[in-house]
Amino acid sequence: MALEERPVAKLDRAVIFLGPPGSGKGTQAKELAKLYGVPHLSTGDMLREHVEKGTPLGLKAKPIMEHGELVSDSLVLKMVAERIERPDCSHGFVFDGFPRTVTQAKYLGELLKQHGLRQPFVIHLVIGTSVLMRRLTGRRTCKRCGEIYNIYDRPPKVEGICDKDGGELYQRPDDREEVVGPRLHAYEKQTAPLVTYYRRLGFLHDMDARKSVEEVRNDILQSVASIRGAQ
Ligand code: AP5
Repeated sequence: MALEERPVAKLDRAVIFLGPPGSGKGTQAKELAKLYGVPHLSTGDMLREHVEKGTPLGLKAKPIMEHGELVSDSLVLKMVAERIERPDCSHGFVFDGFPRTVTQAKYLGELLKQHGLRQPFVIHLVIGTSVLMRRLTGRRTCKRCGEIYNIYDRPPKVEGICDKDGGELYQRPDDREEVVGPRLHAYEKQTAPLVTYYRRLGFLHDMDARKSVEEVRNDILQSVASIRGAQ
């Protein structure tokens, strides 16, 4: 079913996308947020913006991100806490790349309670590492609107130009082959334990992320709609 044909209901909760680099978190999180009319909160995008602007946080984060490691919990938590205070988050939001450690997940649990929001709905994008290198090294992103392409599997109509708004496409510095390895390692070591953490709490919903973008999107929409229907 096309995105525009879906009935729009209130989300009223946090949705979390959990999965390794390149599993499709950004691609899917943007669409889900758009459908439900809630903010898409990518901690990676927020940090890249700080780096671009040269803020004190950006200056600290830059070398860490360039090495494919995780930025410290304290810096990320402050940034997230400030963001979800804004009024546009009152009917829920979609996290992409947060939480990434058990400390971040526990802190988020407290924040959600404080804001009177329900338990989060965690979408776990399940995929083996063998396809991730191709997805990451092939990724190109629009400088203007953030649309995500892949030169191998989802190329733009004109090389280097966004189909949607004609913006210039760029390659993220951490998508170079030598940084992808450390990013995958950081995921396995620090983020993968969240799969067990959220499964135990009963919040986790596994999705087969090897399928096409459209198939994964449909699986996610059905899953989110079914839990809403059950409430
Ligand atoms: P972040 O920006 O969050 O990067 P990431 O988690 O490594 O994830 P990616 O954005 O690389 O991948 P994705 O899963 O979103 O895939 P996408 O949809 O783009 O973080 C960057 C850095 O910031 C971190 O390394 C860390 O340093 C720091 N950071 C961020 N958050 C932090 C936190 N909470 N704590 C501490 N540090 C933090 O898709 C990838 C490609 O695949 C695209 O080309 C796309 O077109 C293609 N694709 C997507 N889906 C499919 C499909 N189904 N089939 C075929 N191709 C597909």
